[in-house]
Amino acid sequence: MRVLGINGSPRHKGNSHFLTSLFMEEMKAKGYDTKVLDAVKLKINPCIGCGNCETKGVCIFKDDFTQVFLPAIIEADIVVISSPIYFYAFPAALKALIDRIQVLWSRKYRLKMDEFKDRNRKGVLLAVGATRGKDLFDGLKLTAKYFFDAADIHYETELCYRGIDEKGEMEKHPTVHEDIKLLADRF
Ligand SMILES: Cc1cc2nc3c(=O)[nH]c(=O)nc-3n(C[C@H](O)[C@H](O)[C@H](O)COP(=O)(O)O)c2cc1C
Repeated sequence: MRVLGINGSPRHKGNSHFLTSLFMEEMKAKGYDTKVLDAVKLKINPCIGCGNCETKGVCIFKDDFTQVFLPAIIEADIVVISSPIYFYAFPAALKALIDRIQVLWSRKYRLKMDEFKDRNRKGVLLAVGATRGKDLFDGLKLTAKYFFDAADIHYETELCYRGIDEKGEMEKHPTVHEDIKLLADRF
């Protein structure tokens, strides 16, 4: 069983990277195979809405999305997106990757391919933001929901942390170790 972690933060070893590492350690201890991809390190063209995937089921671009990310997400049984909030949305590199999942949306909804039949794939969102508003994570949750749906992944749950800003703050959070352990135990 393969767990794929997608790091959305451009900040090296920041708060959401810490969440990914903690979750992956727990999953490794349970015997899962783990792989982590950093959205900012992948060279991904933004979707241009050409419609090629809607008729042919393939993207016109041959880049890190098609050659690295797509095979990884197709293979994964559990997918975890870990990201900070940037202006109430996902950071740009991760959003570019999310938009390109249109190819799986097209295969599922336009071409009725049902390529993940019998797979029971699951997805999790881990998120951090500096402020504390009630609606802080609404945008991320909605985008994650439809990203997972396009890839035929059941949106299992999320862990969202408010008031986390400086690098290293997540590590000092009083319940994070227990939260991530409980999350990993769901699988
Ligand atoms: C460009 C940018 C935009 C941000 N926008 C928001 C925001 O809209 N709301 C918020 O609460 N925090 C915002 N933040 C703060 C980050 O979400 C916060 O610092 C987070 O802990 C960074 O996580 P990381 O270390 O994983 O990158 C923003 C930070 C940056 C750099």
